[in-house]
Amino acid sequence: MPDDLDALKQDTLRALEAAADPRAWDAVRVGTLGKSGRLTALLKELGRAAPEERRARGAALNALRDELGAAIEQRGRAIEAEALQARLLAERVDVTLPVAPEPSGLIHPLSRTVEEMVAIFGAMGFTVAEGPDIETDWHNFSALNTPAHHPARTDHDTFYLPPLDGEGPASRMLRTQTSGVQIRTMLSVPPPIRIIVPGRTYRADHDATHSPMFHQCEGLVVGPASGAQAITLGHLKGTVIEFLRAFFAMPSLPVRFRASYFPFTEPSMEIDIGWDRRTGEIGGGSDWLEVLGSGMVHPRVLANCGLDPRAWQGFAFGMGVERLCMLKHGIPDLRSLYESDLRWLRHYGSSPLSPVVLHEGI
Ligand code: DAH
Repeated sequence: MPDDLDALKQDTLRALEAAADPRAWDAVRVGTLGKSGRLTALLKELGRAAPEERRARGAALNALRDELGAAIEQRGRAIEAEALQARLLAERVDVTLPVAPEPSGLIHPLSRTVEEMVAIFGAMGFTVAEGPDIETDWHNFSALNTPAHHPARTDHDTFYLPPLDGEGPASRMLRTQTSGVQIRTMLSVPPPIRIIVPGRTYRADHDATHSPMFHQCEGLVVGPASGAQAITLGHLKGTVIEFLRAFFAMPSLPVRFRASYFPFTEPSMEIDIGWDRRTGEIGGGSDWLEVLGSGMVHPRVLANCGLDPRAWQGFAFGMGVERLCMLKHGIPDLRSLYESDLRWLRHYGSSPLSPVVLHEGI
């Protein structure tokens, strides 16, 4: 190799060795093989050389270009790998550190109550079903054995929507109860069914214990009407007692079943828990407080959903989320739940970092 080429080679290799980062490396690359690089300049000069010199020098220059090209590429890869290694070391994350607590975000007690309900019923094999807030008259009332002019409708005065073209009068409304999701579920999935339905409901009411928008949690279990898998009133009682005792974290909470009436269940029962009216203490005293409506699904409701009441039977229940939340936390006025008062929220809110887990008790 001619001396000048050898000098260029040694220079370039030394500079490559010294290049410690991608910028220095790129300077060597451009300074050698770039448009006005040293090797490029020699290649350009070749044209002016005498023909017999051109051949020998051309071969030497090409060999040098291949050699330096390979050396530059190799050094480039090494620098990239070193840079990655350095970044990995510098940006090391200790995944064993606890999550930094978020000081300002808290779970609203109503959301927490729904989470608790979902956790307790979830452990009993229930899944969550949902339905629309804007419901048809048929799902909210008629299919639930509450035809037009049924007196039970008067208790559920709500917000009606103007009819869509081609519909009958006032056929859509803000749902007054989550019970319509019973209908939607029975129409869309075959039994056996085991669902709970937390969700918003609406009625034209507003005072210390009523809000025009509130929440309910519905339950529905449908199974065979006979045989070992038959669903009976005994299952309804066991399920509800289990739920209430877990929710209030009181293994011996007194629970009473009282005959009542709902259009969509037969027989129907209201469910009370023991409490002290004077002090508000749950589970104490000798008074009773109503917390749930329930019953065996009315055969007509099953038939409305295309289920043969001789083959299928089940139970349903419904409860007010606000009511259970207020009882559990001793919240006196329902309206405070919706006022977004930060001092109130800080007092009653719970940490998002302590999710509901059953084994620690609710
Ligand atoms: N939907 C009823 C209400 O809003 C509550 C209820 C009672 C639901 C009995 C049920 C039930 O599923 O079986 O007052």
